[in-house]
Amino acid sequence: MSLQQRCLYTHSLVSVVTLLLLTVTSGDSDAVQNITAVLGHSVTFRCPSKHSTPVEGLFIQRVKNDKPDELINGFYKGQPMDVWSEYKDRTKMNEMELSMEMRNISVSDEGLYQCVVFINSTPEISEILLEVTAEYSVPTIMKDCSKPGDGGAGKSCQLSCSVVGGYPQSTVRWTGLNQSLTNVIYNRSSADNESKTWTINQTITHNCDQPANISCAVGGAVSHTITICETESFPSVVIAAIAVVLVFFLLLISVVVMKYYFCGRQTSERGYEEADFDVSLADCHSQLQHLKEGDETLRRFAPFC
Ligand SMILES: *[C@@H]1O[C@H](CO)[C@@H](O)[C@H](O)[C@H]1NC(C)=O
Ligand SMILES: *[C@@H]1O[C@H](CO)[C@@H](O)[C@H](O)[C@H]1NC(C)=O
Ligand SMILES: *[C@@H]1O[C@H](CO)[C@@H](O)[C@H](O)[C@H]1NC(C)=O
Ligand SMILES: *[C@@H]1O[C@H](CO)[C@@H](O)[C@H](O)[C@H]1NC(C)=O
Ligand SMILES: *[C@@H]1O[C@H](CO)[C@@H](O)[C@H](O)[C@H]1NC(C)=O
Ligand SMILES: *[C@@H]1O[C@H](CO)[C@@H](O)[C@H](O)[C@H]1NC(C)=O
Ligand SMILES: *[C@@H]1O[C@H](CO)[C@@H](O)[C@H](O)[C@H]1NC(C)=O
Repeated sequence: MSLQQRCLYTHSLVSVVTLLLLTVTSGDSDAVQNITAVLGHSVTFRCPSKHSTPVEGLFIQRVKNDKPDELINGFYKGQPMDVWSEYKDRTKMNEMELSMEMRNISVSDEGLYQCVVFINSTPEISEILLEVTAEYSVPTIMKDCSKPGDGGAGKSCQLSCSVVGGYPQSTVRWTGLNQSLTNVIYNRSSADNESKTWTINQTITHNCDQPANISCAVGGAVSHTITICETESFPSVVIAAIAVVLVFFLLLISVVVMKYYFCGRQTSERGYEEADFDVSLADCHSQLQHLKEGDETLRRFAPFC
């Protein structure tokens, strides 16, 4: 059913048909009023009126390709207009405020609308441009860093950033990266068939030789921050070397302690002077010869002496 046919069924038959023809020529494009709606939410179209006198009627129509395309909703002389479109259930006129609320906004609602206000049987036309926005999801940021194949310094990282469900289309912005060291290797935007919202996925490569905290953003949505090219807290070689040195010193100390404990005690038990504690290795061996017969314990520890 064409718009003209539909209008034949409205209460104000003649005047509306005349008016629809008028709008094509009398659209006042200087006075376009921009309004923004969030996907799935409501928005109110407010039709301006230059007169203080009560209006006879008001209707709002969709304009496509510079032509009135579809009647959204309206009233004339206190009667609601009959509307057969899908807008019927999600729009509501407010006669006092000359406004219309539209609920559950979708991307396809974006576009140009005309308010037609009747005052003294004269139509007064104004235009409203509806823009739709949808916030992108929090970006998912991922890294995959490795030493470059050529064995050079630094690291080569693949970083990807992806978001879903936003509108209008936007681009990926990276923070914390030196642009001259990055390369975009994958960049894809696709619109969902039904909701018309965008899914964006970008992958870049970045070469770095020092740690950097980076994040990515699409529209107003910002990812969490990740650190790339972090210096390894302590190279494992260093840790291993320290462990080896420590173990060596512990062994050395225990050998020394045992040597003095056993060799020294044996000598003093046999009546040598305590001052003679500091026996040389040679002394120790000669003393061992003397003590051999009686002492089993000593023999077990003999290798330390
Ligand atoms: C309304 O939006 C259009 C397109 O986005 C822009 O060209 C125009 O300047 C805007 N008008 C106002 C009053 O903001
Ligand atoms: C809102 O509109 C979408 C399609 O645009 C529809 O799938 C959904 O059911 C609607 N929600 C409500 C509450 O009417
Ligand atoms: C980015 O990297 C280039 C090449 O290594 C270097 O000359 C430049 O100073 C860097 N810029 C910043 C802001 O670090
Ligand atoms: C990525 O693709 C989008 C849309 O296809 C484009 O607008 C944007 O400039 C591209 N970005 C880069 C860095 O190529
Ligand atoms: C979306 O639409 C395009 C073309 O209209 C079609 O080729 C594609 O298969 C559709 N995708 C889905 C997920 O329905
Ligand atoms: C984005 O693109 C990369 C590279 O093709 C892919 O590995 C990754 O799975 C994509 N992410 C999403 C969310 O589609
Ligand atoms: C990265 O962030 C961490 C924690 O916020 C901070 O300690 C570190 O200094 C930052 N590194 C750089 C290179 O900015």
